Amino acid sequence: MISRRQWIQGSAALGVAPLLAGCSAFDDGGTPQPPIPALKDIAPFPMGTCAMTGQLDDPAWSRLALTHFNQITPEWEMKMEYILTPDGYRFDASDRIADFCRAHGMHMHGTTLVWYSQGEEAFRGLSPADFRRKFDDYIATVAGRYRGKVRGWDVVNEAVAEDGNGLRAHHWSEALGKIDHMVRAFEQARLADAEAVLFINDYNLENNPAKGDTFLRLVERLLKAGAPVGGIGSQSHLDIEIREGQIGRFIQQAAQFGLPIHISELDASLKREGGMPDVRTVSKKISQQTDRVKELTESFYALPANQRYALTLWGVRDTDSWLRRPPHDDGKDSPLAFEASGQPTAMGRAIADSLSG
Ligand code: G3I
Repeated sequence: MISRRQWIQGSAALGVAPLLAGCSAFDDGGTPQPPIPALKDIAPFPMGTCAMTGQLDDPAWSRLALTHFNQITPEWEMKMEYILTPDGYRFDASDRIADFCRAHGMHMHGTTLVWYSQGEEAFRGLSPADFRRKFDDYIATVAGRYRGKVRGWDVVNEAVAEDGNGLRAHHWSEALGKIDHMVRAFEQARLADAEAVLFINDYNLENNPAKGDTFLRLVERLLKAGAPVGGIGSQSHLDIEIREGQIGRFIQQAAQFGLPIHISELDASLKREGGMPDVRTVSKKISQQTDRVKELTESFYALPANQRYALTLWGVRDTDSWLRRPPHDDGKDSPLAFEASGQPTAMGRAIADSLSG
């Protein structure tokens, strides 16, 4: 049995050490596990991840991101919460991420133009005419600025009610209509950028089949209303305890529109939400996670090539995940493809296995 050091020293001669250095690439029995191939090289579609400007200065993050991914979604700095300030628009961060993408030949995906959870304060108290003007101006300005730089936009984010029963009510729907505000958003985005793929994006679509159904009925309704919906985004923050088949079924149902599909924010927490007692062993959680991630990756892979927009993970390393920040963090969750060390996680290996066929 060679020692871990000998193995890494041996691999140094092959020039792979920089990638593996500091990796505990060993299985439980101490046997060295092969490194995983670069995900972007084995995927026949763009592999995405999210980023914030602070990560661009982290050499370890950049090395992993550039090795495995060829598309970036700004995690929050391209949203209204960052861009729209009382003094006007602020683009320094999203411009920096756009420059990073261009410098490294990466695609960029924008999220999000209209989201129930942002903008209420900035639009409060406006007359109907001023509300419409500001709404249109925001989309025209932001989507117009990144015309030719983004491959696509999440134009409308999380429109379906949390429980899947109908649509959310919020400041956008109140001022401009439940469906009409979405049609308007897509029309304004199309005017600003004739090429970008315009997505409607939501979460728990696989985890909660009723919500998935409501979402797909909304897509149908928007298309019938003439909204230029060009893509379907499923965030896929997976609940790893759902039944086998739910994920595949949703992806197949979503494919019926013939539109590109974006797995837009994939992560797979090992934690059980809702505070229910959790007696699962770690190995049980990991096998549930890898089973569901394989089902998702293989279902996406099975789509027609023109419907595979991108498979985007919501972060590079476990410690980059929103799920490892307060109030979610338990210090142990492993929801992404790479450990803090850069070593692939069980989820990373599962994705690589599914992509390798
Ligand atoms: O980095 C700043 C820090 O400097 C500052 O001190 C701190 C307090 O103001 O804010 C920090 O920025 C926060 C950022 O996350 C980085 O942690 C922002 O306030 C916070 O709003 C932002 O939250 C993001 C959230 O969307 C809201 O935009 C999360 O990163 C991001 O992971 C999350 O992503 C969402 C998707 O857009 C939609 N689907 C769900 C997903 C997870 O919630």
